[in-house]
Amino acid sequence: MKIGTPKEVFEGEARVAMTPDSALQLQKLGHECFVETGAGEKAGFTDAAYEKAGVTVLPTAEALWSEVDVIAKVRPPSDAEAGMLTADKTLISFFYPASNEALMELCKSKGASVIAMDMVPRISRAQKMDALSSMANIAGYRAVIEAGNNFGRFFTGQVTAAGKVPPAKVLIVGAGVAGLAAIGTSTSLGAITYAFDVRPEVAEQIESMGAEFVYLDFEEKAADGAATGGYAAPSSPEFQAKQLEKFRELAPDIDIVITTALIPNRPAPVLWTKDMVEMMKPGSVIVDLAAERGGNCELTVPDEKLVTENGVTIVGYTDFPSRMATQSSTLYSTNIRHMMTDLTPGKDGVVNHNMEDDVIRGATVAHKGEITWPPPPPKVAAIAAQKPKEKPKELTAEEKRAAEVAAFKKQTRSQVTLLAVGAVILLAIGLVAPASFMQHFIVFVLSVFIGFQVIWNVSHSLHTPLMAVTNAISSIIILGALMQIGSGSFLVILLAALSVFMAGINIFGGFLVTRRMLAMFQKS
Ligand code: NAI
Repeated sequence: MKIGTPKEVFEGEARVAMTPDSALQLQKLGHECFVETGAGEKAGFTDAAYEKAGVTVLPTAEALWSEVDVIAKVRPPSDAEAGMLTADKTLISFFYPASNEALMELCKSKGASVIAMDMVPRISRAQKMDALSSMANIAGYRAVIEAGNNFGRFFTGQVTAAGKVPPAKVLIVGAGVAGLAAIGTSTSLGAITYAFDVRPEVAEQIESMGAEFVYLDFEEKAADGAATGGYAAPSSPEFQAKQLEKFRELAPDIDIVITTALIPNRPAPVLWTKDMVEMMKPGSVIVDLAAERGGNCELTVPDEKLVTENGVTIVGYTDFPSRMATQSSTLYSTNIRHMMTDLTPGKDGVVNHNMEDDVIRGATVAHKGEITWPPPPPKVAAIAAQKPKEKPKELTAEEKRAAEVAAFKKQTRSQVTLLAVGAVILLAIGLVAPASFMQHFIVFVLSVFIGFQVIWNVSHSLHTPLMAVTNAISSIIILGALMQIGSGSFLVILLAALSVFMAGINIFGGFLVTRRMLAMFQKS
């Protein structure tokens, strides 16, 4: 098949749907590749680079649209572009069918097949074609970088000769693809990161990335973000009120807010209200990724950056992926290449528009003169939602105290029982053994008891210093053994040698383990 990519006509769009690398891959699938001259320029791919990869560079958009069978592009086509479609052509691009009905009608009237990359279902098999996720990942990363660019302080805390710098506090609202990417970027820059989502099952993911999940003291009934195709469901008014109450509590303390909350085919929920913005400190930054759908922040103006009267910067750009055009073109073109692999399964490289295939059916919005949107739900379930993590129950001060007293009583009871049993055994041995043996035996039993108590009650994080202490104990053992070694008794010599051997294992083993642990922290 002939597959081609025109230059994007949407104002300011810098991405391109085919890169020289993806063209090489497409050619391996048996396709012939074309681009319009200058198509990759803004993304850093020159015509020469395409030609080197075996791509034919055509001089005009018209030449390209008429030459190829499959057109791959980023933005939905303009009316003029859609007008160049014919019944034998397939268009692959973002399309947003819910807000582009007239465009869909135009494509239908041309009889062309249209695959909307934004309609690829969120099922495991389709992850490699999930262009929305590819772009959201970039947007999440870029949102943090943009916030940093507008924030006058470090993200990470520092202690310098010129004074102490507290770490920035970042709140990410919505932990989908963009939110998780933002969390990863924010924590890796060293900020104290908090995140909130209506789906409690993401708490574990948030915490595994080093952020703190903001729990709400509220039980949502049926629609606790129940996943529909991998997305969240709307939450109840009571839940929303509780959520806003929590955000109001956090607002004065947070330096950067990144909002990414989205429920498909709905306007963005307003979660960061005007009064919250007013509560924030001067110099704080809000980056609203949902700006295109109206914004999660009440004061966001799409495509603009504004500074409020109290000095809070609100960034409402809607083109974050385009601001990282090389990266986003690389990922998007790979998504397109995977879509082409599924569309042309045979060795002949001919398009087989298989409407029985969940992914192709889900993404097709127009086919053979029909509008095929909205699609039926996919036959396979969306990426399985994990079982929600049990929310830790917050105890009152009295409950905490009662729990501590109960645990102490239990521990004391078992220790007293142990001591009583030990005393009875000692008494029994004392009745038959000589006094000199008993003297040493009691010292031995007490050492075992104290050693056990000391080691067992030390928290895991203190095991390294504990190792140093046991090394010191081992050296005392070796000294004691050396003093006894000349006593003349074979049994004493044997025991002393055994003690030296075992303490030696402890000391040298300790050194070896310490060396290996230090090596883990050294850069190679
Ligand atoms: P997603 O569907 O993966 O994630 C959205 C998350 O928001 C979900 O985890 C959902 O549970 C959560 N959510 C929904 N309602 C919520 C609420 N009331 N409170 C808290 N969380 C809530 O979506 P994805 O792909 O991460 O995209 C996020 C946003 O970023 C979207 O609005 C998308 O349009 C936008 N976006 C913006 C770009 C830009 O350049 N500005 C580029 C790419 C994406």
